[in-house]
Amino acid sequence: MPRGGEGYGNRALERAAALLTRGKAVALTGAGISADSGVPTFRGEDGLWRRYRPEELATPEAFQKDPGLVWEWYSWRIEMIKKARPNAGHVALAEMVKLGLVECVVTQNVDDLHERACTPCVVKLHGNIMVGRCTSCGFRVRWEDVPKGVPRCPQCGSAMRPDVVWFGEALPEEALTKAIELFSRADVALVIGTSGVVRPAADLPLITKEKGGYLIEINPEPTALTPYADVVIRERASVALPKLLDMILEALRVRGE
Ligand code: APR
Ligand code: ZN
Repeated sequence: MPRGGEGYGNRALERAAALLTRGKAVALTGAGISADSGVPTFRGEDGLWRRYRPEELATPEAFQKDPGLVWEWYSWRIEMIKKARPNAGHVALAEMVKLGLVECVVTQNVDDLHERACTPCVVKLHGNIMVGRCTSCGFRVRWEDVPKGVPRCPQCGSAMRPDVVWFGEALPEEALTKAIELFSRADVALVIGTSGVVRPAADLPLITKEKGGYLIEINPEPTALTPYADVVIRERASVALPKLLDMILEALRVRGE
């Protein structure tokens, strides 16, 4: 398959379907897959970082300085995610995992939309915004209601924080190890809705490439990973993924599989 994919129309989708019916794939998703569920991305036109400064809200120092402000922002995001629904992109990707076409979804997203789309395998690199963690004893709780103010640990009374990875913090060891293993043995990295600028997540699809595998990108815009893509599908995930699933099923039907 010649390198450098073209990004429009069915040709790119057909090439992606051909790759996905022939090899083991793993998906890396970013905020873009949740955009069509009404959850804002970080760096796009109407992205969160256009309106807020990550240094002021998504770092341990920011939490130390003003936990109330940080919780105000996270509670607003939790409320928005609770109201959101998985979109057709989440559902089609979950179907690809159920069919064994994609081994697992490795996500940078802290929302729970892949889980709510009943995706059988999800690896969360950056944690889960729907879970709180005690800053002292590590006690975790899944938020039933949207936390108000700075929530206190029911075990020890200390301040709770969102169970997410902030800038400058290490990723959960187990999740990162599993993600590296998945991309190391994949024939295809299906990269959906990420700008590809945050490491180590953005390096994962390059592991697949280094092993001679392929990289398929689904994103309406070019990204830092576009230069490494073998196929580029310049389309919204909620439109491209259902089309891709249909093409794969058609290809398998024609082959009588
Ligand atoms: N379908 C697919 N992609 C989309 C869509 C859509 N409907 N809408 C926007 N996008 C793309 C944008 O073009 C952009 O490339 O989604 C990407 C979103 O990029 P970012 O906002 O940078 O989000 P992400 O790549 O997930 O950020 C990675 O950075 O702030 C940290 O921890 C945070 O996990 C996050 C990490
Ligand atoms: Zn505690």
